[in-house]
Amino acid sequence: MKSRNPEKPLSTNPHLITWIDKMVVLCKPDRVHWVDGSQEEYDALCGQLVATGTFIRLNEKKWPGCFLARSDPSDVARVEDRTFICSLSKDSAGPTNNWVNPFEMKKTLRDLFSGCMRGRTMYVLPFSMGPLNSPMSRIGVELTDSAYVVVNMRIMARIGRPVIELIDKGDRRVVPCMHSVGAPLSPGQPDVPWPCNKDRKYIVHFPETREIWSYGSGYGGNALLGKKCFALRIASNIARDEGWMAEHMLILGVENPQGEKTYVTAAFPSACGKTNFAMLIPPKAFKGWKVWTVGDDIAWIKPGADGRLHAINPEAGFFGVAPGTSDKTNPNAMKSLARNSIFTNVALTPDGGPWWEGMTDEPPAECLDWQGRKWTPALARETGVKAAHPNARFTAPASQCPTIDPDWEKPEGVPISAFIFGGRRATTMPLVFQAFNWTHGVYVGATMGSEMTAAAAGTVGKVRRDPMAMLPFCGYHMGDYFGHWLEMQKIVRHLPAIFHVNWFRKDQDGKFLWPGFGENMRVLKWIVDRVRGRAAALKSPIGWVPGYEDIEWNGLSFTREQFAQVMAFDHEAWTKELADQEEFFQTLGDRLPKELVAERASLIGRL
Ligand code: GTP
Ligand code: SPV
Ligand code: MN
Repeated sequence: MKSRNPEKPLSTNPHLITWIDKMVVLCKPDRVHWVDGSQEEYDALCGQLVATGTFIRLNEKKWPGCFLARSDPSDVARVEDRTFICSLSKDSAGPTNNWVNPFEMKKTLRDLFSGCMRGRTMYVLPFSMGPLNSPMSRIGVELTDSAYVVVNMRIMARIGRPVIELIDKGDRRVVPCMHSVGAPLSPGQPDVPWPCNKDRKYIVHFPETREIWSYGSGYGGNALLGKKCFALRIASNIARDEGWMAEHMLILGVENPQGEKTYVTAAFPSACGKTNFAMLIPPKAFKGWKVWTVGDDIAWIKPGADGRLHAINPEAGFFGVAPGTSDKTNPNAMKSLARNSIFTNVALTPDGGPWWEGMTDEPPAECLDWQGRKWTPALARETGVKAAHPNARFTAPASQCPTIDPDWEKPEGVPISAFIFGGRRATTMPLVFQAFNWTHGVYVGATMGSEMTAAAAGTVGKVRRDPMAMLPFCGYHMGDYFGHWLEMQKIVRHLPAIFHVNWFRKDQDGKFLWPGFGENMRVLKWIVDRVRGRAAALKSPIGWVPGYEDIEWNGLSFTREQFAQVMAFDHEAWTKELADQEEFFQTLGDRLPKELVAERASLIGRL
C-alpha cells in the first residue's frame, strides 16, 4: 500500500491520510501526487497535458498562458440522467432527482472504482469553496486521475497548501470527492487526448454523509466537483440544515453616480445569461453608473448580524459559455479570458487562437473545429456544422475581470437587496415584474420555466419547469426546498425584494423583442430604484410592473409600442402557463408547501 504512495503526504491529518490510503487501495493508481497549488506545479501539469495531447498551447504573444482542449464527442456537457442523489430514503431526494439506494450505489461504485486509476496518477486536490478566511467557506478534497481537472480547479477554487493548513488544524469538516475518468490504462497502452468512459457515467451524491463520487466524465460540472456537486447539490443540504441558502445565482453590485451601491443576485438557468448579466456594462447614457461583478454562477447566502442576507461567491473563476461571447456582448468576459485561461471545445484558428460562433463579426476564413476537423464558413453554410460546440467553455480567473468588485472576497460577503429570477421564454413572460411579497416571490421562483439549452444533454428549446434555476442542482426534495425558502422570512429581518425578468421574448418572426446585454441596465436600474423606494410601478395580476415612463430610455430608441409588446399580458398563454405550473406542482405531492397552493389560488383569482 505505502509503496504506491511514495510521495510524502502534505497533510498530517490522520483522517485524511487514512481515507486516501483506502482510496489508493481501491483505485490502484500508479502514482499519488499531492497538489500544492503552486504556479510551478500548474506550469508543469500544463506542460504535461501538452505532451500527452490533451492541451494545445495557444499563440503565446496573443493568448499568453492559454490552452485549448478538445473533449471526446461523448463528453461535452452535464449528464442529468446520470446524476444521482442517494439519500437514505427515496422521498428525501424527491421526484426531481434520480435516486438509488445508497448501499446499492456504494456497491456499484466500489466495482466501478476498483482499479479505475491503473496506469494513471491520483491527484490529491484540497480545495476551499469560498475565500480561505471566510467563515462561510467550506472545504473539500478531490481525489482525481485527471490533470485537466487539477489545472481547471486551480482557476475555479482556492486549492493546495493553504487549504491543507486549514485541514491540519483539525476543526473543519472535509467533503470527500472521488473522481475518475473511468479509463484505466494497461501496461504499455497509449493514452488518448481526452480519456473518459463513453458508456458508463455516474455523478453521485450522498447528502447525509456529504460525499461525492463521479465516474466516467472529465467535463465541467461532472468533474470539477467543487462547483455543481459540492457548492450546489451538497451545499444545498448543508444550507438547509444550518439555515442558509446555496443558490444557482450570479451576484453583482450596482453603483449609481452618487456612489451608492446596491447588491443583487439573479438565478437564471444554465446558459440563460448569468455571466453576461454579472459583467454588464451600462449604456453610454448611464453616466456615472457602474456594475461590479462578485460572482457569475453560484451564491452562498447567509443571514448576517445586521438582519440582512449576505452573499459570497464560493468560486474563484468563471467556467463560462464561449459561443456568443464577444467584445460587443461581453467585453469584460473577453478581457477576463484574454490570458491564463483554458478553452474547451472551441475552434482553433491558423494563428493559434481560439474562436467560436459570435466571437467576431467575420468568421475566420478557415479553422479547425472543436473536434480538430477543417472548418470553413462555406462548409458551415452548406452543412450547418458548428466550429465550436454550443456548450464550449472558457475557464478564466475571476481576478482578471476588469469589473471584479473590490469586496468580492470579503469574508462576510456582500449585503443583498434583491433576488431576480429569470428564464429563457419566447412567449408569455414579460420583460420584468416585481413580486408582491416574499411568499409570492417564492411562488414566482418555484414556478419558473425556461427553454432547455446545450448546457445539459437533452432536447434544446423545450420549455421545462426549472424552479429557482435549481432543477438539476437541488440536492433534496424540491417541496422541502420551497419550504426552506419560505422559512427564511422567519429568520431574516430585512428580506430582499423579488423580481422576475425575461430577456428572451420573441416576436412572430422569432426575433428577440428586447436588445438585451448592456441594455438590461435599464431594467436593473428600475429594480434598484424600486428597492430604494424611488421608482413607481403599476399593479398587474402577476405583480408590480413598470410603466413606460418608469424606465430610463435615454440613448435607446424603444417605442411605447415595443415596450407594450415586450410587457404584454397574453391571457391565453397564461392559462396554459398555469396548467403547466400545476402539472409540476402535482408531482411534489404533499411536500408542496400550502402557502404556495394558496399563492396559486390568489393568482388565479387575480387573473
Ligand atoms: P451557465 O454558465 O451555464 O450557468 O450559463 P449562464 O447563465 O452564465 O449564461 P451566459 O451568460 O453564458 O449566456 C448564455 C447565452 O445567452 C450566451 O450565448 C449569451 O450570448 C446569451 N445571452 C446572455 N444574455 C443575453 C441577453 O440579454 N439577450 C440575449 N438575447 N441573449 C443573451
Ligand atoms: C451550468 O450548466 O449551469 C454550468 C456549467 O455552469 S457546468 O459547470 O458544467 O455545470
Ligand atoms: Mn451554471
